[in-house]
Amino acid sequence: MSIRVAVIYYSATGNVHALAEALAKGAESRNAEVRLRRVEELAPDSAIDANPAWRAHVDATKNSVPVATLEDLEWASAYAFGTPTRFGNVSSQLKQFMDQTGGLWQAGVFHNKPATSFTSSLNRHGGQESTILSLNNVFYHWGNIIVPPGYTDPLLFAAGGNPYGTSWPSGGNERPDGATLDAAHYQGRHLADITTQLAS
Ligand SMILES: Cc1cc2nc3c(=O)[nH]c(=O)nc-3n(C[C@H](O)[C@H](O)[C@H](O)COP(=O)(O)O)c2cc1C
Repeated sequence: MSIRVAVIYYSATGNVHALAEALAKGAESRNAEVRLRRVEELAPDSAIDANPAWRAHVDATKNSVPVATLEDLEWASAYAFGTPTRFGNVSSQLKQFMDQTGGLWQAGVFHNKPATSFTSSLNRHGGQESTILSLNNVFYHWGNIIVPPGYTDPLLFAAGGNPYGTSWPSGGNERPDGATLDAAHYQGRHLADITTQLAS
């Protein structure tokens, strides 16, 4: 049976987007059907235009990455959610999307579906774990099975060894390095493998 993975993320300047793409490829490498989706941008143009990297990323993805819908959540048999750190918390854009799921929650759409999460912050100790844990709070309420990478593969150590989820300290202008993209790819494989095991 083919499994269906929705990789849903918010990214202002492209770092979480790069992690999402790597994770999606990892899940695809395990023959999962994958939908890579960005949530809607909510910031006004005046804020986006004040940061050239933000404007460039919005323009680069507006036609190439579809916007996430509630139907994607119904379709999927597993989820990967990504957000940049916002003061140690989930971005409002991703939270706004999640806050539209009351009806799906009531219908039990999320029950027992595996979910995993990933993030990027500016600083190595700028709130990566707290962001992932905040995101995971939603999964408890949805009734998901949380799938962390833990230390289930040695390659995770090269990416900083974050057992909560792939996390990238962007430093403001760097893109995720090879070890971190490998960890994100692994997280996608791992999510797909666990989902397949649960379905058999
Ligand atoms: C409003 C705001 C709050 C942020 N808060 C933090 C923070 O608490 N710690 C941190 O290290 N970086 C923080 N950042 C930086 C971003 O999390 C970081 O640049 C991240 O790599 C951006 O990911 P993206 O390129 O996918 O948008 C913040 C950025 C913004 C705009």
